[in-house]
Amino acid sequence: NHSESLYENIGGQAALERLVEAFYQHVAKHPQLKPIFPEDLSETRRKQKQFLTQFFGGPPLYTEEHGHPKLRYRHLPFEITTTLKNAWLSCMAAALEETGIEEPYNSIIFERLALTAHHMINTPEEEK
Ligand code: HEM
Repeated sequence: NHSESLYENIGGQAALERLVEAFYQHVAKHPQLKPIFPEDLSETRRKQKQFLTQFFGGPPLYTEEHGHPKLRYRHLPFEITTTLKNAWLSCMAAALEETGIEEPYNSIIFERLALTAHHMINTPEEEK
């Protein structure tokens, strides 16, 4: 149903929670991502569920609790290269498959996240 949000189309909160759980399972075992994330991912997971809920057109849970996302700013403490961006997206691609998000939503979501991820790059490859 095209009048519904992406959030509703993929199955609402239940699907979103499964997606984020699957995503951080990959992050937690990724050799390049694991070291920059906290050991305990529960708070990271909680914030990402809030953020992606609103990013996909659901209720504005992230903004209600944390204010404007300012995502690029919040990622400045981490040296994000193209390699790291691709690593993040590969974890998300795997999570989208495992969660059973179907087309066209799988591709629509991936493309939107790829644009946002690209915006998060703040370090040239050669400086790493
Ligand atoms: C937080 C890495 C892309 C959304 C974080 C944190 C790291 C990180 C290390 C801090 C975790 C913590 O301390 O809890 C990366 C890397 C990316 C990337 C390497 C590669 C490009 C993205 C994208 C999005 C996103 C594309 C959204 C679509 C968030 C959110 C937070 C976060 C919502 C929590 C911010 C807060 O503290 O309130 N990210 N991230 N990230 N990231 Fe990313």
